[in-house]
Amino acid sequence: MAKIIILTGAGISAESGLGTFRDEDGLWTRYDLNEVATPEGFARNPALVHEFYNARRANCRGAAPNAAHHALAALERARPGALRIITQNVDDLHERAGSQAVWHMHGTLAGALCAACGHRWEAPEVMQPADPCPACAAPATRPDIVWFGEYPYYMDVIWDALRAADLFVAIGTSGTVFPAAAFVQDAARAGVATLELNLEPSEASGDFDTVRYGPATELVPAWVAEVLATQAD
Ligand code: OAD
Repeated sequence: MAKIIILTGAGISAESGLGTFRDEDGLWTRYDLNEVATPEGFARNPALVHEFYNARRANCRGAAPNAAHHALAALERARPGALRIITQNVDDLHERAGSQAVWHMHGTLAGALCAACGHRWEAPEVMQPADPCPACAAPATRPDIVWFGEYPYYMDVIWDALRAADLFVAIGTSGTVFPAAAFVQDAARAGVATLELNLEPSEASGDFDTVRYGPATELVPAWVAEVLATQAD
């Protein structure tokens, strides 16, 4: 059975009402990423960082998966074991659509992490700097989000999964943040076919074998229907 690796970015959740980062009116046009998405920013002003992610968590809770998330979940159900989603998104819309094989390489809003002892637990709706860690009691609670300057999760398994794939598909990502931005080149070097599904050409478009442009809620269900129409081999 053909193995498919999907990389998703903020664009797949845009039509669920969650903002992207770099589009017009994106989050990084309204917030300074150095202040809210770096360990240094957190050390300077943890209250501001918690406020930012508390707002993201509330937005996420109020959003619902869209047709693109549902189509990927349907593909996984139809081809068990053939699909792996690597998402840069910290929302849980893939899981709420029914996807199970999901790696959150940039962490998740659903998680809390103790900066002192590394203990992880389920994030409450609202987090504050003085919240004690349930394991060591240190008031060092942070969101379990990978910030700029930190090493993304799952990298030990991502490279191997990419190289073992038959097809790499990037959906709704600007191709500007590494290491995810390099996945297409790595896959191509390993002889893996590559497809981009994005609203418009991304920074990495030139590296893909095939590109399709339009909203994820149209492109992704259409592509999934094509895959499902082909014989499982
Ligand atoms: P970006 O905001 O950089 O890019 C979003 C991409 O989605 C753009 O290429 C848009 O054209 C596309 N897009 C927007 N609406 C779309 C739609 N309806 N259908 C399809 N595509 C659409 O977001 P990411 O690439 O996910 O990291 O950003 C990568 C990382 O940068 C994020 O995980 C985050 C951010 O800083 C951290 O916070 C560490």
